[in-house]
Amino acid sequence: MTDDSLPAPCTAVRTAAVIPAAGRGVRLGPGAPKALRTLGGVPMLVHAVRALAASRAVRLVVVVAPPDGTTEVKALLAAHTLGERTDFEVVPGGDTRQESVALGLAAVPEGHDIVLVHDAARPLVPVETVDAVIEAVRGGAPAVVPALPLADTVKEVEPGPAGEPEPVVATLERSRLRAVQTPQGFDRATLVRAHETVAVDSEGATDDAGMVERLGVPVVLVPGHEEAFKVTRPLDLVLAEAVLARRRATDVR
Ligand code: CTP
Ligand code: MG
Repeated sequence: MTDDSLPAPCTAVRTAAVIPAAGRGVRLGPGAPKALRTLGGVPMLVHAVRALAASRAVRLVVVVAPPDGTTEVKALLAAHTLGERTDFEVVPGGDTRQESVALGLAAVPEGHDIVLVHDAARPLVPVETVDAVIEAVRGGAPAVVPALPLADTVKEVEPGPAGEPEPVVATLERSRLRAVQTPQGFDRATLVRAHETVAVDSEGATDDAGMVERLGVPVVLVPGHEEAFKVTRPLDLVLAEAVLARRRATDVR
């Protein structure tokens, strides 16, 4: 017997976060794997873990480490203060982001009904963005993605050899486009199904929500944040350091 006028029973919906950090960071140039590079003296991965653990809802963070770097990553996490309420686990990653996320997802124990997937390469995402994504999943959306409008106009081309002029195929309508960020939030069963169903092609999917779309499951966007940008190229390191310096200057704690 159910009564729709009563509030839903207060079963705690547990949230886990998977942080793929197994990439090499080729576009950043030579050096340590990207997630282990430091910003303000702290490894990017540690910033990312703290950013997710800052959300009261996140009970578990699974870090997906470079396959030959799990010991180093475990030591790194042990050496830094992380969230007190949050458990941490480290698993080895794969050759593509898609494989790394699948390996991290496999390490999330039953009982976590919401799973966030967050790039270690987005170390500065504000907790408000994390919470907004979780809120939307709690509200019933099976897949939620933070996103921002684009600054640049985007053209589709016929890709040619590097450095050669490329023919334009179409100019997309900018006002209808969004650049997507992480953390992306999912009903766990939906994300598991997506990873079981969508095969890894050469590069693998760069976006979990895209895999969910292929199942025909609706995906919704919520507002992202400028500071959730992905550290991809050398100039992004300069921007990240500047954001950290601004936070230090305005930090009143
Ligand atoms: N990632 C991963 N496993 C891989 C490849 C990527 O866990 N085999 C992770 C990266 O560590 C990063 C996130 O996926 O946190 C987003 O990927 P990207 O920004 O492309 O990072 P890299 O692959 O490391 O960078 P690049 O493509 O320049 O080599
Ligand atoms: Mg990559």
